[in-house]
Amino acid sequence: MEPSYLLVFTPPHARKLKRLWANDKIMAKDRIGMWHSSLRPISEVLATTIATEARMAASLMRLHYHDCFVQGCDGSLLLDSIGGIVSEKDSIFNGQSVRGFEVIDQIKAHLEKECPGTVSCADILTLAARDSSVLVRRKDSLNASLSGSNSNIPASNDSFEAVLTKFNRHGLDITDLVALSGSHTIGFARCTSFRQRLYNQSGNGRPDMSLEESLAANLRQICPIAGGDENLSALDMITVAKFDNNYFMNLIKNMGLLYSDQVLFSGNDISRELVITYAEDQEAFFQQFAESMIKMGKISPLMGSHGEIRKNCRKTNNP
Ligand code: HEM
Repeated sequence: MEPSYLLVFTPPHARKLKRLWANDKIMAKDRIGMWHSSLRPISEVLATTIATEARMAASLMRLHYHDCFVQGCDGSLLLDSIGGIVSEKDSIFNGQSVRGFEVIDQIKAHLEKECPGTVSCADILTLAARDSSVLVRRKDSLNASLSGSNSNIPASNDSFEAVLTKFNRHGLDITDLVALSGSHTIGFARCTSFRQRLYNQSGNGRPDMSLEESLAANLRQICPIAGGDENLSALDMITVAKFDNNYFMNLIKNMGLLYSDQVLFSGNDISRELVITYAEDQEAFFQQFAESMIKMGKISPLMGSHGEIRKNCRKTNNP
């Protein structure tokens, strides 16, 4: 199964590069071509993985986002706590939540066998999320930042202003925020990520009244006031596994699962207009989503002599 969201990531320059890479002669001579041919294992592993578990497409997309928002897109999220490293995997937003590390390990193992030292873990993350800007050639970080992970990633109960501030910090604007939040058209959230809305939104023992009533009642079945922390709800419960613009339609009906989703419609006039545009025009959403993903993938990459290409994504080459 190839999820429809994969089709999003084909901006014109990527198509042009793919045509170039298809030429064997160029591939033999050209380093970029050689580099590209080494990427084949990524698509192969992904195709098999996603065929077995469609959600993994969502999980990998989120991994890339959580990597980019801490020190830039440098693979720091993949490091385990070894030697002096304190892993970002245990941060407030990652612990018990982000998933897909084994898939990245699997891809890396294939790549190291076929073409050692060529493709960084940071680039594997980007490509796994299906960004086409492969020529960035990021390097991997030599460190991780648990505190950065705790402070830079938006929380599901953040206000509109708080979320936008965290995006602005990385050079992403309000359009990027709304478009990238559209990735919540696939994937799932745990009860702990939306419980507060159901029972005690502002600390006064009352639910978030902006949440559509019948949806709130259904969600209380999945997510009781105590217990069931890991119970899952789809982020877009109408078209769960399809990458489409239904997420934005949900917001207009007050059916966003997370508070941070719903504030895109209720918290600011400009973002509200963008939500309406994307709800009415799926192509406009796809176009902006691809652009914003590429922009996000370029947050402070390590280039040239900075960083390294890790042999194993979980540890630096000299731990
Ligand atoms: C705007 C601020 C954002 C907030 C507050 C936010 C928050 C969350 C939360 C709380 C979850 C559920 C986690 C859990 O319960 O374990 C989630 C899931 C997800 N997020 Fe976000 N997110 C944001 C932006 C983004 C962006 C920019 C992307 C990608 C470009 C993204 C992609 C995803 C995906 C695909 C999932 C589902 C993952 C899965 O099913 O494994 N999110 N997000």
